[in-house]
Amino acid sequence: MSGPNSDYDPVEVTPLRADEVEAMRDAALDAIAGAHDLGALKQVRLDHAGDRSPLALANREIGALPPQARKEAGARVGQARGAVNKAIAERTAVLEAEQAERMLAEETVDVTLPTGRRRRGSRHPLTMQSELIADIFVGMGWEIAEGPMVEAEWLNFDALNLGPDHPARTMQDTFWTVPAENHVVLRTHTSPVQARTMLTRKPPIYVACPGRVFRTDEYDATHSPMFHQVEGLVVDEGITMAHLKGSLDHLASALYGDGITTRFRPSYFPFTEPSAEVDLRCFVCRGVDSDACRTCRGEGWIEWGGCGVVNPRVLIACGIDPEVYSGFAFGFGIDRTFMFRHGLEDLRPLFEGDVRFSSAFGTEI
Ligand code: DAH
Repeated sequence: MSGPNSDYDPVEVTPLRADEVEAMRDAALDAIAGAHDLGALKQVRLDHAGDRSPLALANREIGALPPQARKEAGARVGQARGAVNKAIAERTAVLEAEQAERMLAEETVDVTLPTGRRRRGSRHPLTMQSELIADIFVGMGWEIAEGPMVEAEWLNFDALNLGPDHPARTMQDTFWTVPAENHVVLRTHTSPVQARTMLTRKPPIYVACPGRVFRTDEYDATHSPMFHQVEGLVVDEGITMAHLKGSLDHLASALYGDGITTRFRPSYFPFTEPSAEVDLRCFVCRGVDSDACRTCRGEGWIEWGGCGVVNPRVLIACGIDPEVYSGFAFGFGIDRTFMFRHGLEDLRPLFEGDVRFSSAFGTEI
């Protein structure tokens, strides 16, 4: 019969051997050090400090030891578990701090960084109006022509049958350049582009000439010393006033909407014969109950521009045979057209460069 196993050596109980406990602790410490985020550390905690971890299992063996051996083994395992728990707590603190720092860095909003958004500029409303008009002409198969704003007196007046003593020269108050003997003016209308076109090209001619013109007018709600016109010129065989009327009616409805036509009133321009003033059908009341209409002031019609059949004297001055060719011409204000289309009662904002005004018209679809 054997007595109590007083020789029992706890070192012989494998999981409780000092080297085994140390190995378990070291494995746990290595795994903790190697956990690079909180998720990995959670798994390490389960593996090395959880209920089924080697150290927890070793701890359970202690109860099976003889009492005299328990103390030492308990201290050994307890210290190892303590070291592991401490390492886990420290690693947790480090990883939590790192995570907080990373979140702060990643979620930082630097309000001083320049934004990708640029303030959109906008084109000048008159440039857009002018291009819209040009597009309508191009749609009719016409070409766009341009001429200089500083113009020869002869082209601005003489070629257009406005000779030096012609009373109609005073119809347009002219800016003259110095010295006067150079006979150079700021063009008073776009009509000299007619002469330039006829002098340089052979018919058939179908051109529109938008541009800036100058007159010594007062600057007020409806006048400006600088404004914009568009000139139309057709020279071909068999051209009549009917073609002129048809072209203007098309233009009027393209700009102001279906059903807006034109009417002619007899007038005088030296460069056309016969000549007419063109009126637009009022696009607000359309001629119905006009008495109450504030736009046309009861007329049913609105003054738009001048027109006529090209005077044969102009054709001759520009080298075109009036026996073969005839033509029509017209001119109207682009600024006025813009004002009508947008209900603007004062033209001055068009020339004063306030971007808040321009940007409101910056996009046209
Ligand atoms: N040039 C004229 C003006 O500025 C407008 C005009 C009238 C142009 C009749 C024309 C035309 O071509 O035929 O007042």
